Amino acid sequence: MLLGGNETTRKIDSFAINELKIPSIVLMENAAISFVKHIDDNEDNFLIICGKGNNGGDGYTIARQLFSKNKNVKIFCISNENMSHDCFVNYEICKNMGIEIFYKIEELDRLLLECDVVIEGIFGTGLNSEIKGKYHEIIEKINFLNKNKIIYSIDIPSGINGDTGEIMGISVKSDITISFVTYKKGFLKSDIKNYLGKVVIENIGLNENKISHIVNEYYLTPEMIKSFHIKRNENSHKGDFGKVLIFAGSSGFYGAGNIVAKSCMRSGAGLTTVITDKNNFSLNVFVPEAMSFPVNFENIEENFEKLENKILNSDVIAIGPGIGKSHKALKIFEKLISFEKNYKGNNIKLVLDADALNLLSENRELFEKIKNRSILTPHVVEFSRLTGFSPEEINKDKFEIAKEFSQKYRINLLLKGENTIITNGEKIFVNSTGNSHMANGGMGDCLTGIICSLAGQKYDLLESAIIGAYLHGKVADELLKKQYIINATHIIENISGFMNKIF
Ligand code: APR
Repeated sequence: MLLGGNETTRKIDSFAINELKIPSIVLMENAAISFVKHIDDNEDNFLIICGKGNNGGDGYTIARQLFSKNKNVKIFCISNENMSHDCFVNYEICKNMGIEIFYKIEELDRLLLECDVVIEGIFGTGLNSEIKGKYHEIIEKINFLNKNKIIYSIDIPSGINGDTGEIMGISVKSDITISFVTYKKGFLKSDIKNYLGKVVIENIGLNENKISHIVNEYYLTPEMIKSFHIKRNENSHKGDFGKVLIFAGSSGFYGAGNIVAKSCMRSGAGLTTVITDKNNFSLNVFVPEAMSFPVNFENIEENFEKLENKILNSDVIAIGPGIGKSHKALKIFEKLISFEKNYKGNNIKLVLDADALNLLSENRELFEKIKNRSILTPHVVEFSRLTGFSPEEINKDKFEIAKEFSQKYRINLLLKGENTIITNGEKIFVNSTGNSHMANGGMGDCLTGIICSLAGQKYDLLESAIIGAYLHGKVADELLKKQYIINATHIIENISGFMNKIF
């Protein structure tokens, strides 16, 4: 699904009107048709509240469409001065058709009480300042008199800034927001969920592929995830689903390695090997399907010859969770990234997380070795170490900072957070799944395991991160329906079942 702020919406409109030559009034009609589809046929008593811009124009168009279906429709016109052209045209049609139009704010209470459904088109993407005066009063009344009514918002609940999600003084509290073409960037803000209600994105007669050059930001949907799916051939063998080498876990943190390995196996990798301390026996118990590559941490170099062979046999190497920042960890990290291609001549894909990112921050020359074949999966503090920006600066401008970082170092980036973002420096994908009940230790390790597993199964790194983040959060969202807390092990045990559902 396309994601965009107010400016993107304007660019899409302008492209449709000026390049595709679709008259703006036709776009308005299309928007209204797709809006009306979502209204329950059993509803009969409508009050449409219209502003004077194109959002109000949508309102008048919806009003006459409902009227032509013999619905009982009344319109509250906030102002008929300085209307936008298309708003005026549709307002005139409503008048000519004989739809009742009310203008006096004194009548609004009664109108709100009499109707069953309110459709509000006061402001959309054109809201440009704090709401005051008459507009404030009207929104207050809608929110106050909404008992037993369904409130629909056209495009954006009036009062929400489409770019930032900020409430501009006051906002309508909607039950259903039917938005056009793009999922608005402002909707990502978590504390406005009860203003948005259910969000539906509708088409206005434009083919998504034909406007993709205008938008390079996406909000993940199950359809998108499904579209990436690579079918498994019946005559395949384990070698076809990736040889994944994992360097994760160390004394005191063996669990991290175990979790990465188990989630890697459970999400479908062909062969998984974990580089671990020769004294760690827990791996075989926790995940017997994985192999271990024991190393003597007292004398790292003595393992390097055998390790080289292992590296060159790998399709993917995941490095980081629980390895610490010791000199020995750095030596192994350096060794693991020292070969660009494997025996098959393919790039060895790298999935770098946790301490691998901290080691990278302190040894920047290593960036040269990982370029064009890596995904980095930091949370905001790790990303702050990598970029030098403070977490506050990152949270304020994370799309741009993430994109620039990705371009600069030629890596893919997955920045974890409430709205995890994934970028290759050009496109940005925002995850739509996950919840606060999965915020506990081991979750990131689990995600690393899923991503390296998918990378082994021939998804490219960007796709692996997109699918991985979506599945990881989606499993947690499903589990939340029946349990309060979700741990990494819960995700691991359920991911395959969910992959079955979605693929
Ligand atoms: N207070 C009062 N009036 C305001 C404020 C404000 N804080 N902010 C904006 N306006 C006025 C503008 O002066 C303009 O008349 O509201 C009108 C613009 O509102 P919109 O209808 O949101 O903007 P517009 O660009 O005309 O339409 C965008 O059209 O494509 C549809 O619904 C879709 O949201 C989209 C909308």
